[in-house]
Amino acid sequence: MPQFTVKTSSQEYVALVERGCLQRAAEWLPPKHSQLFVVTTRDVWDLHGALLDAALGEKRHQVLFFPGGEHNKRLSAVESLCEQMVEAGGDRASAVIAFGGGIVGDVGGFAAASFMRGIPVVQAPTTLLAQVDAATGGKTGVNLTNGKNLLGAFHQPLAVLVDPSLLSTLPQREYVAGLYEVIKYGIIRTPWLFELLESRRDAVLARDPDAVDALIAESVRIKAEVVSADEKEGGLRRILNYGHTLGHALEAETGYKQLLHGEAVGFGMIAAAFLAKRMGMLAEADCRRIVDTTHTYGPIPSLAGVEPPALLARLVSDKKTVHGNVHFVLPSRIGEVEVRGDVPLDAVRWATEQALQAVS
Ligand code: GLY
Repeated sequence: MPQFTVKTSSQEYVALVERGCLQRAAEWLPPKHSQLFVVTTRDVWDLHGALLDAALGEKRHQVLFFPGGEHNKRLSAVESLCEQMVEAGGDRASAVIAFGGGIVGDVGGFAAASFMRGIPVVQAPTTLLAQVDAATGGKTGVNLTNGKNLLGAFHQPLAVLVDPSLLSTLPQREYVAGLYEVIKYGIIRTPWLFELLESRRDAVLARDPDAVDALIAESVRIKAEVVSADEKEGGLRRILNYGHTLGHALEAETGYKQLLHGEAVGFGMIAAAFLAKRMGMLAEADCRRIVDTTHTYGPIPSLAGVEPPALLARLVSDKKTVHGNVHFVLPSRIGEVEVRGDVPLDAVRWATEQALQAVS
């Protein structure tokens, strides 16, 4: 099975995609760590904790539970985890395993980035979304009421252990939410990945191992390549935000409770395709393919009551807004995107209305 090297200024590490790799988790820990903390949620631990316990063997580890949910991804959760680490004797030689979905990875990673000014973290993602995207690349952080991920740090992991066999217990809604991020990789970088998602929808939705492993491996390959080229999102890494500008606005507007992150990104990708068409960048046929493919993996939960003006107002506090200009990642064809900071607000409003209609 494949492994991909991520090379950044602070860390060079491996993102391993391999069924069963979690059983070798101990191999990736720092050799001389003191306390080992596993940050996870109760449901993940109930399903897969025994596997990690067995993998860590005689290594003493303390399991710290985070309540889960985007609305709990707050600084208070990081504070609580770090206080528990102190109480359990954690010190500068401690290490963390973030074991769960993207939210656990972000919160556990941020706790590791902050505790005693930084201790190592191994990312062990258990959802499709975290496996294909969130776990690799060192982004950690929490939400503010004003916006998503507005507080955080880059803290590259020691390793990313992607074990696709863990997905067998993932609820279908969470699985599909991760598929939207995979569709994203097809649109931004890899036409064959997008075509696989178009042509093998039933196999992908049924979690056919060949299809699942291929789409995870290609997504992680792209993520490793992009992060290695641009760790801190000064340039190329911005393409990973396709669908995220309006997606983050939608998450904030719905109080981080109504939608999973991947679902909000799915909506944002549809809106961005309409926007690219309106900007004259994207052919009608490619726009239709993006909208249809994203939609056929849905449906995205009802967005009744979401008003375009409220979403537009949210854009201003997004991290992708620079000097007051909202930046959008827009496709020029399947497999290629551009970052644009010159998008008129009336075009954004139109695209948002089209997207709301398309998903209703
Ligand atoms: N999820 C986008 C990134 O890691 O840059």
